[in-house]
Amino acid sequence: MHEGTGFTPVQAAGDGRAHGFSTRAIHAGQEPDPLTGAVVPPIYATSTYKQDGVGGLRGGYEYSRSGNPTRTALEECLASLEGGVQGFAFASGLAAEDAILRALLEPGGHVVIPDDAYGGTFRLFDKVATRWGLGYSAAPITDLAAVEAAMREDTRMVWIETPTNPLLNIADIEQLADLAHRRGALVVVDNTFASPYLQQPLALGADVVVHSTTKYVGGHSDVVGGAVVVRDKEIAEKIAFHHNAMGAVAGPFDAFLTLRGIKTLGVRMDRHCDNAEAVAEFLAAHGKVAEVRYPGLSTHPGHDVAGKQMKRYGGMVAFRHKDGEQAAVDVCARTEVFTLGESLGGVESLIEHPGRMTHASAAGSALEVPGDLVRLSVGIEDVDDLLADLRRALG
Ligand SMILES: Cc1ncc(COP(=O)(O)O)c(C=O)c1O
Repeated sequence: MHEGTGFTPVQAAGDGRAHGFSTRAIHAGQEPDPLTGAVVPPIYATSTYKQDGVGGLRGGYEYSRSGNPTRTALEECLASLEGGVQGFAFASGLAAEDAILRALLEPGGHVVIPDDAYGGTFRLFDKVATRWGLGYSAAPITDLAAVEAAMREDTRMVWIETPTNPLLNIADIEQLADLAHRRGALVVVDNTFASPYLQQPLALGADVVVHSTTKYVGGHSDVVGGAVVVRDKEIAEKIAFHHNAMGAVAGPFDAFLTLRGIKTLGVRMDRHCDNAEAVAEFLAAHGKVAEVRYPGLSTHPGHDVAGKQMKRYGGMVAFRHKDGEQAAVDVCARTEVFTLGESLGGVESLIEHPGRMTHASAAGSALEVPGDLVRLSVGIEDVDDLLADLRRALG
């Protein structure tokens, strides 16, 4: 297996400091190409590698499902940004989630999941993992006592998403990790909404971080991908085995695009946060809006916890329309700068109706979302254009 370039989060800058976030986003895993000096890691579009005699691997690579240099660059960068011992790049966020369940749990195990998680995560637990012998209970992860009550003798994992999709609830990672570890369960945090720029769950006690890199990490709505970053070597070995054995790996072209996006993560996230704060304040003062869900508002129930564990409050905003479901659907159809579409975290602003779109698979379950809810992925366009668009669409 390839050993990596050694640009780790603990490597000191010249003056003895650890490198900052954006320095690592641009350089970790991305040493200039030793052959040509190319400053951007090349796309190694190869399935296999010539061996110098049987077993004589030149760069540690033998077959691109097991390892590919473009993917390695991305994996090292992800590990550095999340502060983990190893990162793994997958074909999608859900492929990454599936690998975590199979690598770290046995049939018969039980998982506590958030009662407002991404709909696809819920579907994975409800329709796939249960058939494979895993049980789950959905609990409000903002409520420590409720999570404790949902835990059983056979609970092996607590699955956290924070901020949650789509209601932007905030879970206290440190407290939940303490609780789960006391009861012998692992802690997984889906860090997709925050990105490692705003929140680093491993430093707060989580064992595993998972991402849909399709979102903020890639950041340009041009690639689907997933990532897992882990706290220790033992977990890393299990994920590495399943990464290769199940094979849902990121291809070199996708790894290249994701790595290209990651370099600007810090500057993009700051602009997303600036714009989302302005949008949340605008909505909070609008007569047609019943409730704004944004952790940056002091009225948000998770505001203090978010302030403690996040650098800023993120680019996602959700709101409930005063006039009900049809009015919410109509707003989604009326915006012009906000594009009606699923997904999130790209430079362009998106709007959607979770109940009929991203979270339709949770209908009728504990994870069903309110029909009057609209979700915004606030992009990095000029904020005045975003506010004018929403003003027009809300009427
Ligand atoms: C919070 C969250 N986790 C995981 C996923 C799944 O990722 P992917 O679509 O890349 O499979 C998504 C997708 O929307 C998401 O929003």
